[in-house]
Amino acid sequence: MNPQDLAKQHAARAALDHLVPGEVLGVGTGSTVNFFIDLLAERKDDIPGAVSSSDASTARLKALGIPVVDLNNAGTLSIYVDGADEADPHLRLIKGGGAALTREKIVAGASRRFICIADASKQVQVLGNFPLPVEVIPMARSFVARELVKLGGDPVWREGVVTDNGNLILDVRGLRILDPVGLETTVNQIPGVVTVGLFAHRPADLLIIGSADGAEVFNA
Ligand code: A5P
Repeated sequence: MNPQDLAKQHAARAALDHLVPGEVLGVGTGSTVNFFIDLLAERKDDIPGAVSSSDASTARLKALGIPVVDLNNAGTLSIYVDGADEADPHLRLIKGGGAALTREKIVAGASRRFICIADASKQVQVLGNFPLPVEVIPMARSFVARELVKLGGDPVWREGVVTDNGNLILDVRGLRILDPVGLETTVNQIPGVVTVGLFAHRPADLLIIGSADGAEVFNA
């Protein structure tokens, strides 16, 4: 296994320490979470099931025999485990590189604790080097893009990608995000925006950074 995958796997394994036996948990999306799902399969007798944040994670969970639970039937979840594209020292995140940001934000919001797992390449001082994903209703794509330009960004349509919700993604480059909470609010106000991939109003509660040797835990 290459060193970056080993780091992701170590972070994923450390997240298992936070499982609450007997309770449904939330599961995110992406290559780091895929390691978590694979490890979760070894603990499936401890949990009744998982709420999934994407069709891709649903398929992986089911393939490993982990029951997938509808969020509407789950109530508040004990923990949500997901990756990130960037994490700042306050555990505010950019997410959505895998286009699953809307369901990820819903499941994070419905969970008592959000445990973010990543390798060290995701840690930044200021968010914005990774292009900020914005999910938009298809008819609003050009309008939302013009509004994002007014905010100082350079939006690029992620052509060929349709989200699990049937929408499109704009990736906004050129932002140095000094006020993540404010920008999250502002972008969410643009008509046609479904979700912006800033997780600042609801940041992670714990960040587990894996390395080739193990994992380190950060609190906000
Ligand atoms: C999915 O939409 C994203 O939010 C992922 O959580 C994020 O892109 C991290 O993915 P990796 O674990 O593959 O880096």
